[in-house]
Amino acid sequence: MKTDNKLLSYNLSDDIEKVLFSAEELDEIVGNVANQITERFADSVLVNNEKLVIVGVLNGSFQFVSDLVKKINLPLEIEFMFASSYGRNTTTSGEVNIKVGKNPDVLVDSNSNIVIVEDIVDSGRTLSKLLTTLRKKGNKSVSLCALFDKPERREVEVPVDFLGAKVPDEFIVGYGLDYAEKYRNMPFVGILKREIYEN
Ligand code: IMP
Ligand code: MG
Repeated sequence: MKTDNKLLSYNLSDDIEKVLFSAEELDEIVGNVANQITERFADSVLVNNEKLVIVGVLNGSFQFVSDLVKKINLPLEIEFMFASSYGRNTTTSGEVNIKVGKNPDVLVDSNSNIVIVEDIVDSGRTLSKLLTTLRKKGNKSVSLCALFDKPERREVEVPVDFLGAKVPDEFIVGYGLDYAEKYRNMPFVGILKREIYEN
């Protein structure tokens, strides 16, 4: 196979200003979140035979969900969904259009404890609408889990039950988080160089 110098010198992390969380630090943060979820639902699942359903919001949560579920020490089901708003100015319902992957019935099961897993809470609009929509579906409970929270940017109050870490008001990428669909594959989280998105 031909070796290309361009390939050898390419490094995704050249676009990163500063690393905020290394892969090792993320591992510890995710472990903490998993322990909180395990403690919270141990009785529900192991004593009361309720379901625990981890629902990842795509695409940003894919790395987080993958690592999180490996560290939750309970039987659980995994589902993914896409959420799209109807647009800020055209709706008064505060609801969101949800597309669920393989098993949408799990969201309406009266025995299901749903944990929505997001990459980051920014304005809070996405999670707030998801919560409103999912709480109307007749499940046992709906709680919110986010890897990161940018509290300075909040426009809508949203109760995050399980949180990884707070982050400053900077644009961050990696470990699922993207800028223009790039950088999701980085194993760490960093602040993106301004020149990348200001050009
Ligand atoms: P919210 O509805 O404003 O809370 O939007 C949250 C969504 O915005 C997240 O799920 C991300 O997709 C995106 N987002 C917010 N801040 C960042 C960031 O710093 N990096 C990458 N995506 C972000
Ligand atoms: Mg997202």
